[in-house]
Amino acid sequence: MQHRGTLFKPLQLPCGLALKNRIAKSAMSDSLGDGTGHPTAEQIRLYQRWAAGGVAISIIGEVQLTAGYAENPGNLVLNDASDLHRFRELALYGGGNGTKLWLQLGHAGALAYAPTSNPKGPSALDLPGLRCEEITLDELRKLPSEFARTAWLAQQAGFGGVQIHAAHGFLLSQFLSPLFNKRSDAYGGAIANRMRPLLEAIEATRAAVGPDFPIAVKLNSSDQLEGGLDKEDALKVVAALDRSSIDLIDISGGTYFPGAKSASDGTGRGPYFLEFAKRARAETTKPLMLTGGFKTRAQAEDAVTSGAVDIVGLARALVLEPSLPDLWKADRKPEPLFPRFSDAPEGGITAWYTMRLTEIGADTETLAFGDLGHAIRDYEARNRSRTEVWLRHFAYDAVGQT
Ligand SMILES: Cc1cc2nc3c(=O)[nH]c(=O)nc-3n(C[C@H](O)[C@H](O)[C@H](O)COP(=O)(O)O)c2cc1C
Repeated sequence: MQHRGTLFKPLQLPCGLALKNRIAKSAMSDSLGDGTGHPTAEQIRLYQRWAAGGVAISIIGEVQLTAGYAENPGNLVLNDASDLHRFRELALYGGGNGTKLWLQLGHAGALAYAPTSNPKGPSALDLPGLRCEEITLDELRKLPSEFARTAWLAQQAGFGGVQIHAAHGFLLSQFLSPLFNKRSDAYGGAIANRMRPLLEAIEATRAAVGPDFPIAVKLNSSDQLEGGLDKEDALKVVAALDRSSIDLIDISGGTYFPGAKSASDGTGRGPYFLEFAKRARAETTKPLMLTGGFKTRAQAEDAVTSGAVDIVGLARALVLEPSLPDLWKADRKPEPLFPRFSDAPEGGITAWYTMRLTEIGADTETLAFGDLGHAIRDYEARNRSRTEVWLRHFAYDAVGQT
């Protein structure tokens, strides 16, 4: 008991931002956008509830730079074609109660949602479950300015920061991974080349938002897959991030490369990437956040108190109990009960949690766990109907712009 309270000590990031505690709602793709890349009332309510529950940082997952490479048709898209007014409302309510509401900037690349995209990654691939073209050099060169523009618009709309997504097998993580990246130019080969798109994105983003706006990076400790990004190379990325202008490194792992393990479907005992975090500490003085597998206050408290990390990131625990930080602070509750699913198909657990987010946004969640098969069917049906909206909307936009 001697360390009680470490989780609730404030922290100042290098940009000067003060965080009220050490608990972050890690990025989750909530699939609650309206299909045109704009927020819905349910989504605003969801982030309002997390803010009311006491998190210091709340990160909206997979906010797309353009409509072309979304991860899901329920993603937000923030660029010059967006209605900023609707984003302002989300920023206002989701950033209440002293919570910093950040946008995770995403580009799904080779894993872009095929019904609305033409997936492109660092290299063309034709594998079972993964087919993509090679991104053009023109698109690659434009990428830093697209990150910068979305970050700048986020700042204008009143969001508190951004996180550049370089984990889990999406575009910047694909560049880091030798399984996706077979290039022989300045963006492929040695890790110094493979991290180039990430470093360019950071540099452009910082130039756009100025010195006082937090920029985080979510990075894989490893892809947990033979031939993917390994820990030694990931540590070299950490060392490079140390020399960059970012404020926080969020450590994760796993990838959605076909057949691989993903953190959001993980069932093992957590926290997952603690040993890597300890090694990362030796490479950087940047604040570290660790995400993955936290289930109890004791685990979270230990990770911070031991000095291994500065912030803990929670995803599924905060879906089961959006007010967990306040409940932990008040010592008021048994830990949340996690559902156990036997024989969940790949992506099934993530789909189940996504549908529970919908219930939280509608204030209809109950203590009882809904059926997995039912959740997967609902999730897929909603994706199909959002896809229709998305295709109509963005096709219209493309025509409108020519
Ligand atoms: C429904 C759901 C959606 C997720 N979407 C994202 C995402 O958009 N971006 C991201 O970086 N991680 C995403 N994740 C992964 C989480 O941020 C986190 O890394 C992972 O779930 C492990 O943490 P946990 O054990 O606390 O759930 C998602 C997880 C879940 C459950």
